[in-house]
Amino acid sequence: MTKNIEEYYAPWVKGIPMYISEHIELAWRKPELHRMMSNENPVPPSDKVLEAMFKYAKMTNRYPDQGLVVRSKIAEINGVAGPQNVMIGNGSSEVYDNIFRMFLEPGDEVIQHTPCFGIYGLRGTLLGAKMVSVPMLYEDHKLKFDHDGLMKAVTDKTKIIVIPNPNNPSGNFMDPQHFEPFAKLGIPLVVDEAYIEYAGLGMSQVELTKKYKNVFVTRTMSKAYGLAGMRFGYTIAHEDTLKQVAGSLLPWNVGTIPMWAALAAFEDTEGLAERVKFNNDAVDYISEALSVIPGFYVMQSKANYILFDCGETGKTGKQALEYAETKGIILRGESKKYGSDGWFRVTIGSKEENELFVNTMLEFFGVKK
Ligand SMILES: Cc1ncc(COP(=O)(O)O)c(C=O)c1O
Repeated sequence: MTKNIEEYYAPWVKGIPMYISEHIELAWRKPELHRMMSNENPVPPSDKVLEAMFKYAKMTNRYPDQGLVVRSKIAEINGVAGPQNVMIGNGSSEVYDNIFRMFLEPGDEVIQHTPCFGIYGLRGTLLGAKMVSVPMLYEDHKLKFDHDGLMKAVTDKTKIIVIPNPNNPSGNFMDPQHFEPFAKLGIPLVVDEAYIEYAGLGMSQVELTKKYKNVFVTRTMSKAYGLAGMRFGYTIAHEDTLKQVAGSLLPWNVGTIPMWAALAAFEDTEGLAERVKFNNDAVDYISEALSVIPGFYVMQSKANYILFDCGETGKTGKQALEYAETKGIILRGESKKYGSDGWFRVTIGSKEENELFVNTMLEFFGVKK
């Protein structure tokens, strides 16, 4: 008797759909909309980066190498020994995937600190892992890391602990002294530094990778460097660890254009500085402009997005999103949490978009300029 295809799927993958980000799909269909929802960079690539893209586009009849030049540059920027400490991927999402698949077996536990980036859960679940979500603390209208809570969640089934720093969507950092106790456990610890450049590499936990073989620092070119569409991310870790973990890489997983575009972006330090300054000024502008709204709480952000809780204004986050949509602005909704239905997030846009967003919110919450 032939069996049905359903009976052949690995049980833990059944029913997992293709990942579709509805708001990104919408934004591509309607380019006139203001994309203030996906933590993208509003500034297009610099001429230097574009030149590298065109130069290497002409060589795309050839296979890429394993990114030796760009990996060496990453090592140099981060003060680690060399390319042997760096593994690259098709965005940092692929990098966690590679790390996860080298450690996880069905039934293993992955600890995450919620609210957080959703891809950890998607990739962990695909591998049959159980996601253990430890909520951040919400005190004095501030979201705080709960390092004790994270530590208490560790069991003998914990195979990965992932801590985004700064976290998305809260935008804040965990105090640096709280990382080492996790590193000392020996359990693979992924510190996701997707937004680190906005605060500067001085905030990085990369030094831990020199001391602990179980620490991975992951990064992306999708945010401060403004290359989300290129798909380039990387991890920095101990040489011995990467020797094993890089075994999970698909051959030629990073294309020729992304790896040389990334190198050009690393070399264009002025381009990065401009983007970081523009972003950080805009975060200050929006945070200050909206903090005048009574009952409206702004989470202090060190990244390119800001999280709000408008629960005490009597309006919901969903209503704020719907009102913004009438002005062509796409924002990001957040689930109800900590007894409030007022959560939503904005991503920094162009100067005009940020002004439009501020005016739209002041209007919606009935505050005169
Ligand atoms: C915390 C965090 N890590 C990683 C990413 C995605 O990175 P990539 O585009 O490199 O896959 C995001 C994107 O929003 C993020 O918020």
